Amino acid sequence: MAGVKYGCGRSQCGACTVMIDGEAARACQVPASAAAGRSVTTVEGLREADGTPGRLQRAFIAEQAAQCGYCAPGILMQAQALLERNPDPSDAEIRAALNGNLCRCGSHNRIVRAVLRAAKEG
Ligand code: FES
Ligand code: FES
Repeated sequence: MAGVKYGCGRSQCGACTVMIDGEAARACQVPASAAAGRSVTTVEGLREADGTPGRLQRAFIAEQAAQCGYCAPGILMQAQALLERNPDPSDAEIRAALNGNLCRCGSHNRIVRAVLRAAKEG
């Protein structure tokens, strides 16, 4: 699980976001005992079966949306959770869903474009 990042440890940054039973969750706030027996997906789980980047990862690469690599895994998982419950999100819905995932480098518009691109690819 090299992809999961530890940032604030206080549910403030989103760097640690994973999916638990299909919902985005801040891993820093979930004790291992609470995850026992549940389905936990990290950013590694977004890859294709052959190990190549998955749809959302390809879109982030195409839009050059991941600058630092530290916040990106959490953003990807938050975006994946959004796409699973809303396969065709609007720009505003993407911004709302990712609002709690901090990015300091100014990639926000690229990130939104990447999620839109992934949604279009279906
Ligand atoms: S490490 Fe920042 S929200 Fe978990
Ligand atoms: S991509 Fe990590 S701070 Fe912006």
